[in-house]
Amino acid sequence: MNPEERTPPEARPSWHAESVDLELADTRESDLEQVLELEADPDVAPWIAPWSRERHTRAIRERDEAHLRFVDAGGFAGFCLLAGLNDPSGSIELRRLALCRRGEGLGRHALALVLAHIFVKAGARRVWLDVVPANARAIRLYERAGFDSDGLTAATHLLPDGSFSPLRLMSISAPESH
Ligand SMILES: CC(C)(COP(=O)(O)OP(=O)(O)OC[C@H]1O[C@@H](n2cnc3c(N)ncnc32)[C@H](O)[C@@H]1OP(=O)(O)O)[C@@H](O)C(=O)NCCC(=O)NCCS
Repeated sequence: MNPEERTPPEARPSWHAESVDLELADTRESDLEQVLELEADPDVAPWIAPWSRERHTRAIRERDEAHLRFVDAGGFAGFCLLAGLNDPSGSIELRRLALCRRGEGLGRHALALVLAHIFVKAGARRVWLDVVPANARAIRLYERAGFDSDGLTAATHLLPDGSFSPLRLMSISAPESH
């Protein structure tokens, strides 16, 4: 029986993956041109700290990190970065999530795929992230998926305008450890 039939919708975690034309795959070094292009997009760059090609290459090769791409019918659809895969506490950082098509509701499907990957495939107990408080779109996405706010860091995050901002810490636990 497929899990969609077995679990009533109201009993599923809010990040439960629905059927959309989106898949998760390992990022290849040959995808990095598209990753760098997406990071440079003026609608994306202010919300992340764009990396060099070398740092992305390291994330692909590092055993403690994961560099994953989203793939839809058109090919490369975005990427996400995970860190702390070897953390003995089972707490994984969702370090970055960026999509080529924004504002179309694709974010919740992408996030559902990532959370399923982290909780089911990687067996993590908790996912945490930090986000610039002004990034209302991303915060809404995370809250809708069931992330809780764990407070603010000190204002040490450098913004593109040269000012410093705190970061909002957010986390979600695996369904069975709620
Ligand atoms: C963050 C991101 C992954 C979200 O994916 P998305 O498909 O664009 O998100 P959506 O369009 O579904 O919007 C998510 C929610 O925010 C809401 N939203 C959109 N813009 C908003 C805004 N300016 N203020 C408040 N809420 C907003 C949407 O209505 C939606 O809420 P809903 O589900 O209740 O309707 C994507 O926009 C992205 O790649 N952004 C650039 C990089 C980034 O900010 N990454 C996150 C930090 S690492």
